[in-house]
Amino acid sequence: MAKGTQGSERRGFEKNLTNYGDRGFSTFLRKAFIKGAGFTDDALDRPIIGIASTGSAYNPCHGNAPQLLDAIRRGVLLAGGLPMDFPTISIHESFSFPTSMFLRNLMSMDTEEMIRAQPMDAVVLIGGCDKTVPAQLMGAASAGVPAIQLVTGSMLTGSHRGSRVGACTDCRRYWASYRAEEIDEAEIGDVNNQLVASVGTCSVMGTASTMACLTEALGMMVSGGAAPPAVTADRMRVAERTGSMAVQLARTGLTPDRIMTRQAFENALRVLLAIGGSTNGIIHLTAIAGRMGYSIDLKRVDAFSRETPVLIDLKPSGQYYMEDFHKAGGVPALLRELRPLLHLDAMTVSGRTLEQELDDAPASFDQAVIRPFARPIYPQGGIAVLQGNLAPGFAIIKQSAASGHLMEHEGRAVVFENAQDMAERIDRDDLDVDADDILVLKNIGPTGAPGMPEAGYLPIPKKLARQGVKDMVRISDGRMSGTAGGTIVLHVTPEASIGGTLAVVQTGDRIRLSVKERSIQLLVDESEIQTRLQAMRIARPDAERGYKKLYLNAVLQADRGVDFDFLMPTADKGAIPAERPKTDPDSSQQAGSPE
Ligand code: FES
Repeated sequence: MAKGTQGSERRGFEKNLTNYGDRGFSTFLRKAFIKGAGFTDDALDRPIIGIASTGSAYNPCHGNAPQLLDAIRRGVLLAGGLPMDFPTISIHESFSFPTSMFLRNLMSMDTEEMIRAQPMDAVVLIGGCDKTVPAQLMGAASAGVPAIQLVTGSMLTGSHRGSRVGACTDCRRYWASYRAEEIDEAEIGDVNNQLVASVGTCSVMGTASTMACLTEALGMMVSGGAAPPAVTADRMRVAERTGSMAVQLARTGLTPDRIMTRQAFENALRVLLAIGGSTNGIIHLTAIAGRMGYSIDLKRVDAFSRETPVLIDLKPSGQYYMEDFHKAGGVPALLRELRPLLHLDAMTVSGRTLEQELDDAPASFDQAVIRPFARPIYPQGGIAVLQGNLAPGFAIIKQSAASGHLMEHEGRAVVFENAQDMAERIDRDDLDVDADDILVLKNIGPTGAPGMPEAGYLPIPKKLARQGVKDMVRISDGRMSGTAGGTIVLHVTPEASIGGTLAVVQTGDRIRLSVKERSIQLLVDESEIQTRLQAMRIARPDAERGYKKLYLNAVLQADRGVDFDFLMPTADKGAIPAERPKTDPDSSQQAGSPE
């Protein structure tokens, strides 16, 4: 039996021993059991690479997990390590009741505790669908073991009657047409067969694609690892490289805290803004940063947004799909365009700096998907941060996917008290609503629904949809899918169910949205707002037992990433971005006008 080192330097199977009060016996017993699976002492003396495997019949976004696992194992073995895969919770957007967000923190706890409980020198995290990658990075950040992220990759696009389609921007587009009675039952059935053309994550710049790009920008993924589609040879090669790099990580002991630094998070924020990324990205990035002891200063993020143009022409902000982004060069090609705004000395999982990785990435070439910095598709970042008496904490809007004519808008509120109320009334012909009104949905925040569902993309009332209305200002304390677009104000903080101003908005009140001024105002006297709040006597929601009780008692607001309070570290490393955003005033590169 190989002799292990002592204390925190213990490696491989001598790490994290079950406590029987006798270390020698614990090691002896562990090796006896694992040898029952046919392992030799030679195998057990190698660097041990855990692989968090999230394949599940309930998660088609991870449908290639078995092939990825094979490729990771190959990479680990080629580099001289021993792969040990293990299961964790897997979450798919459409198969998670009440919402996937309700379960994200549970998955992060599962991931953290399994990394910590089992012996491994490094871990590969196989994620993909929206909540899985943030959950895994949150868990890995807290566990403190060398870790590397692999994503399953995007699905292919399909074709419906000659039009290219992909989940899920086109899911919403076709469903809106069906609601407006522009297409019939047969056609909506036909398109349902084409929207998801293969396994893999949504094919647009939704939350899964956003988190993949942010992870590469954070340095927690092999260079070029975000964009290859799920069913391609490139994706399998990324998996093999990931396995090999995990062995290198095990040998060097490069832990997540040395990669996910302030500089890395600032790089990730730049990328979030430049890709027209999902609004969920800001919540997840806040949660991951929170696990490292950082808070995200949204006012400073907004300053970033004003100087970071959207360069990626992908749906829902643009026209292309993830497979096009991959063919155009993926994240390395984007990072080259963003170079003046980035911390190029940030460390990555390879043990090399971002600059070294970019220098060695395949050469960029002329293409239509990743725009030059001076010729953006939108002159500012995809996300704008709003504040005002309706959102004293903050709210956000995905300005790159909003309607220009509604970004400065005052209108009458039409209020729905909760998601059920909305479902019952929104399509009624007697609903008193017109196209200039502002739809308000309460009680879909972190504790409200609970689980902060993606119901913030309120449907256009059927009677207006039939008249051809495509967009209205919509406001809620919930989230929306990264694949959705429209003039939609989200994440209103504090949420209605804990007594935010949103709770007292009444139908007929007037609301003013000004994206230019970054303002969202309820045009009601402050004294009247306070009178209404006192009359409501709102108490924080609770549950009788189980995970729901834990969730409701511990969940934080959107500006804290909707994480649990007891998972926060004690160390406070300060706010991100740093007070002075990194800009190069002498740079000749300035964002130009969108085309
Ligand atoms: Fe899994 Fe969209 S549903 S990524």
